[in-house]
Amino acid sequence: MGITDSIFKRLRRVNPRIMAAAEKTLQAVPGVQGRMEAEYASMLRDLEPSLKPYRNEFAAHAQLPQAGIPREEIISAMERMQAHERTRWESGFVSGAVYHGDPSYIDFLNRVYALNSQSNPLHSDVFPSTSKFEAEIVSMTASLFGAQNNNEICGTVSSGGTESILLAMKTYRDYARSRRGIRDPEMIVPVTAHAAFDKAAQYFNIKQIHIPVGDDYRADAAAAERALTENTVVIVGSAPSFPHGVIDPIEPLSELARAHRVGFHTDACLGGFVLPFAEQLGYPVPPFDFRLPGVTSMSADTHKYGYAPKGSSVVLYRGSELRHYQYYTATEWPGGLYFSPTFAGSRPGALSAACWAAMVSLGEQGYLDATRRILETASAIKTEIRSIPELRILGDPWWVIAFASDTLDIYRVMDFMTRRKWSLNGLHKPSAVHLAVTLRHTEPGVAERFGADLREAVDHVKTHPEDKGEMAPVYGLAANLPLRGVVSDLLKRYMDVLYKV
Ligand SMILES: Cc1ncc(COP(=O)(O)O)c(C=O)c1O
Repeated sequence: MGITDSIFKRLRRVNPRIMAAAEKTLQAVPGVQGRMEAEYASMLRDLEPSLKPYRNEFAAHAQLPQAGIPREEIISAMERMQAHERTRWESGFVSGAVYHGDPSYIDFLNRVYALNSQSNPLHSDVFPSTSKFEAEIVSMTASLFGAQNNNEICGTVSSGGTESILLAMKTYRDYARSRRGIRDPEMIVPVTAHAAFDKAAQYFNIKQIHIPVGDDYRADAAAAERALTENTVVIVGSAPSFPHGVIDPIEPLSELARAHRVGFHTDACLGGFVLPFAEQLGYPVPPFDFRLPGVTSMSADTHKYGYAPKGSSVVLYRGSELRHYQYYTATEWPGGLYFSPTFAGSRPGALSAACWAAMVSLGEQGYLDATRRILETASAIKTEIRSIPELRILGDPWWVIAFASDTLDIYRVMDFMTRRKWSLNGLHKPSAVHLAVTLRHTEPGVAERFGADLREAVDHVKTHPEDKGEMAPVYGLAANLPLRGVVSDLLKRYMDVLYKV
């Protein structure tokens, strides 16, 4: 998540009595609000240097420079920043984030971007090549999910997984309002589904009904049935989920949706470009796509395991009628007849061109090879984790592997890994850490290095109880802090810092 430890370390120094008090009471205590404000300000001041590492090295431009800076100087500054940032992800230390990362592949995508940098699908008459690319991206993606025998599957390109999910949820809200007269829409969402569903609920005023997951971290279908009301517009499942990398029981969930004539969305943002190929390779992939009659929409991220550059995803629907509820049209605007399929108006056509180029250059064979490498590496990494008695893998994951410990503070294990250059994702509820295996981890020696470092991390935590770690107190506190509003406020101020020059 990126929030650094010093925020919470400082927060801990706030009077513990105040910390334990309920938020409303807290805010009513005279002087407390001011004191919290002062605490925030000082915490964030401490944080700034680590968030702005380039301040002393590169000129900062709060206003336009009076005379333009020479192009070569700009390129050289950017090259130095890249050199600083690149090594970690390139050498396979990072969970997720960069999914392909091979230098010659990146060069190819950069050439494609450069060729198309001026294109904008909003002007489809000027840039018909972009429309061609986008239509084919949608069709190629749909064909992975059972559209070969079903020509009603359609969709659009979006800017990423979050936008695909927001679009789908807005579509269900509008469809249900128009077709069923639902004024107070509700969506049924497993607690492990991506935060983008919560964002959609907030943005579009849809009530989110959370359902729990079972011991296997998969959504509880019986709870979904109990959560259904006459206002339900959609049920959601993940294939797989971000935190634990497990596939929800899509078949029973989507059947439930079908029986009650509500929508069902499979979030395959993470798995859309792995699972179809895993199935072809003979892995036992449970049904999750449009071959299930209850699945009415899906999201699949080309910019993750589709190996396109960041900024593209696909949202798909069963039937163009549903897709029409996503589209925006303006017929009375003095600016002319206006329409856009997604949230943005103008869009970067170059990203769609690069996404298309990624897909057709890899082809089915490229994705099969990538999937095989990823699943084999994930299996080796699972074996490494299982060989460490203090660690326990959560559920039965595919290639996003979450692990916890019953005897050690898992966040201290993560801290040791960070010192060894690893960037793993800290999870909570329950406390765990995950590694999303990418092609970077399939390079020779990376899985073995992960195993060796993890073993050392566990030994270190066992033998050095005095080492409290860096993020461990942060996660411990974040898990227990009753004041969620305070945590939320801190996150907002953290974002403010990111926008400081
Ligand atoms: C299952 C799942 N859905 C949605 C998203 C959101 O994708 P994005 O970060 O591209 O908006 C993610 C991101 O990791 C994800 O794992």
